[in-house]
Amino acid sequence: MATISASVYTSHVPAIGAALDQGKSNEPYWRQVFDGYAFSKQWEKEHLPDVIFLVFNDHATAFSLDFIPTFAIGTAAEFAPADEGWGPRPVPTVIGHPKLASHIAQSVIQQDFDLTIVNKMDVDHGLTVPLSLMFGQPQEWPCRIIPLAVNVVQYPPPTGNRCYHFGQAIRRAVESFPEDLRVVVFGTGGMSHQLQGKRAGLINREFDTRFLDELSRNPREVAKIPFIEYVREAGSEGIELVMWLIARGALDERVREVYRFYHVPASNTALGHLILENEATSSGLTP
Ligand code: DHB
Ligand code: FE
Repeated sequence: MATISASVYTSHVPAIGAALDQGKSNEPYWRQVFDGYAFSKQWEKEHLPDVIFLVFNDHATAFSLDFIPTFAIGTAAEFAPADEGWGPRPVPTVIGHPKLASHIAQSVIQQDFDLTIVNKMDVDHGLTVPLSLMFGQPQEWPCRIIPLAVNVVQYPPPTGNRCYHFGQAIRRAVESFPEDLRVVVFGTGGMSHQLQGKRAGLINREFDTRFLDELSRNPREVAKIPFIEYVREAGSEGIELVMWLIARGALDERVREVYRFYHVPASNTALGHLILENEATSSGLTP
């Protein structure tokens, strides 16, 4: 049986990818960011899964206003890094897991969740920056990755509550896969940020801290946060945080917070990062 025992949450600021690709990770500004992931890289090595189920949003890169799936699962054998204007990032091609992805699609659709099946998709910073933060700059990514793209760009995005329940459905799907595979779920995006308009640059440390505190302890309450509260409190792009609820839904209600990192600023945003493990199977590793 395939199992999920941990989840990783992280912002996916594109400037972090650019800093790494351009050899700037030792500059003082960026060192503070990368140092915050030193423990996480070690943890990831010691808990290397067979598959990462990576929840991210496409930033009008693979998709456009032509069609807007709310939830889209990548079932392809591989996914190329996208060209976001400066050429594709010099990172390895993402190798998928078509068999598990197709099984998850079948299972969650039959649990009454809508899911778009995507057999060809280039992946942007939403997916590649979290991998870079957790794995650095390897020749190949060390495991398979199933992308799940969530629409948080074009109104209306899914509610946090739907995302939480969707995560629970994904867990049931994974646990009904007959092969023994270790799966870790990543929730990406956030934290508070707004990239345009009068409130551009908005950072709300209080909201972010409460979100981080409550996500591990009280996910059902966090799932009740309405769309408008994310936008008002965390900025227009703060709505990306609903994706963290998909990863959280895939874990037990009782979890152990293994690691937390919060840092301002990274580009124009607040950067947040958590590692949670199911309490029942927790490794006990601490920073
Ligand atoms: C930026 C873009 C993002 O998609 C994001 O989540 C955070 C920051 C940016 O352009 O700075
Ligand atoms: Fe984003």
